[in-house]
Amino acid sequence: MDDTPGLLPPALPALRAKAAGAGFTMSCDDRTGGLLAALAAARPAGRILELGTGAGEGSAWLLGGMDPDSRLISVELDPEVQAIAREHLGSDPRVTLVTGDGGSWLEQYRGEPFDLVFADTWPGKFTHLDRALELVAPGGIYLIDDLTPRPEWPAGHGAAVERLSARLADRADFRSVRMAWSTGLLMAVRSAA
Ligand SMILES: C[S@@+](CC[C@H](N)C(=O)[O-])C[C@H]1O[C@@H](n2cnc3c(N)ncnc32)[C@H](O)[C@@H]1O
Repeated sequence: MDDTPGLLPPALPALRAKAAGAGFTMSCDDRTGGLLAALAAARPAGRILELGTGAGEGSAWLLGGMDPDSRLISVELDPEVQAIAREHLGSDPRVTLVTGDGGSWLEQYRGEPFDLVFADTWPGKFTHLDRALELVAPGGIYLIDDLTPRPEWPAGHGAAVERLSARLADRADFRSVRMAWSTGLLMAVRSAA
């Protein structure tokens, strides 16, 4: 089975070329991107949070699935890499690109909870996990990728991933599913009750 998505976001080729030119190699892969677009499409007027914009490939997939009434906030520490996303996606009125530390942003955010949280950096995943989960609305989804071990992982990262998975599996208020697919995903859905 060919499991790569057929419908790519229009901005993706240009974003990808810019990211490659800047030496940025941490963008989500197409299968995760396709899933992001499908999950975003499942939430009309959805509120979506991405932690770690990178060059904007994940944001482009999310925007590709979102309807006109949905909104995306994407937070990135590195202004230079986020500038690529800003150039190609910044004119879309549905997206707010925030430059700053994701942990500080999570601590300071006082708005509505989110229907989908794609936690794709340290804060919201390896730090500030409880705060990120607190911001998932009932029935909402928390999604992380990059869980399949890689040879280049630093010592201790595999153990940190296992601790993270165990913490999510232990949460009685979320139903978690781990997927040995793409780069290794975990999706946790907040119970409605
Ligand atoms: C895996 S990449 C994001 C890829 C992007 N979500 C995508 O799907 O294409 C992780 C990003 O997190 C950013 N980052 C690292 N530390 C951060 C922090 N403390 N707060 C916000 N972003 C951070 C990095 O600069 C990097 O661009």
